[in-house]
Amino acid sequence: MARWLAGTNDVTQLFLAAGQVPDLVNLAGGLPEPALWPVEDLARIAGEVVRADPQAALAYGPIEGLPALRDAIARRFSRGGLNLARGNVLITTAGMQGLDLLGKVLIDEGGVIAAQAPAYLGALDAWRPRGPRYRPMRLGENGCDPATLMRGAQFAYVVPNFSNPTGRLVDLAERRALLAAAEAAGTWLVEDDPYGTLFYDAPPLPRILDLAGEGGGEPYDGRVVYLGTLSKELVPGLRLGWVIAAPDMIRALATAKTGADMCTGGLVQAIALRAFEEGLPERILPEVLALNRARRDALLAAMAEHLGDAFDWQVPAGGMFVWATARDPALDTDRLLRAALDHGTCVTPSSVFDPDGRDRRSIRINFTLNAPDRLHEGIRRLARAVAAIR
Ligand SMILES: Cc1ncc(COP(=O)(O)O)c(C=O)c1O
Repeated sequence: MARWLAGTNDVTQLFLAAGQVPDLVNLAGGLPEPALWPVEDLARIAGEVVRADPQAALAYGPIEGLPALRDAIARRFSRGGLNLARGNVLITTAGMQGLDLLGKVLIDEGGVIAAQAPAYLGALDAWRPRGPRYRPMRLGENGCDPATLMRGAQFAYVVPNFSNPTGRLVDLAERRALLAAAEAAGTWLVEDDPYGTLFYDAPPLPRILDLAGEGGGEPYDGRVVYLGTLSKELVPGLRLGWVIAAPDMIRALATAKTGADMCTGGLVQAIALRAFEEGLPERILPEVLALNRARRDALLAAMAEHLGDAFDWQVPAGGMFVWATARDPALDTDRLLRAALDHGTCVTPSSVFDPDGRDRRSIRINFTLNAPDRLHEGIRRLARAVAAIR
């Protein structure tokens, strides 16, 4: 086996064990509520698109994606000074493939990534085989200077809208500063944005991609590489995502995609195109926001009741997670996960979001998958697990 496999985290084994725990309240994943999926609409659309254009839906397609879908995404994201053309868009097998292809295109062995810390586990997994070194960017903390950290990096990686794992929102001034830092360093700025529609308390902020497009020409040729996905906006199982970037970057990523899967499934792309044309994501959004907001509030209420003496946390203004940090620096959240499984619940420990696996003081708690009474029950069980290891 290749050497990089030795660097994976054994917490994954614990999650596999979680499947065996009866009546588990799973607060660990990042899954949307299945009841929100527009099942009938998607079933109808799937039948229609296969019959309407079997060539698009069932043949091998162009590596970069169906032209009509690339055009639709270019139109959907063009606004203000941002002018996108088909050549700015690559269709991917969801967001994860965008991360994987970026690793292939940008990281040489030992290359440096300036990554928002703590960092999305899936990105660390995608890039691990490339053997990168990380410069953590602890945005918002004293002494964090992205401009210095980005110098000499192959790229910078941020999740400005409700980071996974922390739920943190990067404000407008910070977005401008990140873009300026990337431009000064001459490095790519990867904006990973699965949660960009999930604002519960205020209207969405401009994307860093929008800021990069200000005053730019056509087609877009800036430093920001934007990753989008239908996973949190519609359904995760379609595995449909997109990269928006300068045409040269799209060409490089398409070269890497050839060796990965030749093209994203045509049926899935045809469904996505029709879903955009019919405005399906917009139609379900109000219900998604209302349900997620109520669940976030239910989780926070349960945490205030049961965890207030052991953990501190911030209220996330969107997304899917609350990040809680133990007041006692000696509380080891890898140990807490084991105890939580014994008590019938699970959360994600901070070690998996740290490339070195050393941060063991925080947990990520998901609030979108479980109804309020189950969230309460999960937090009650978690509090018992905390008491058991103290
Ligand atoms: C920050 C971030 N990036 C990318 C992804 C990948 O999602 P998908 O491959 O389903 O589009 C996720 C999923 O949870 C995520 O949280």
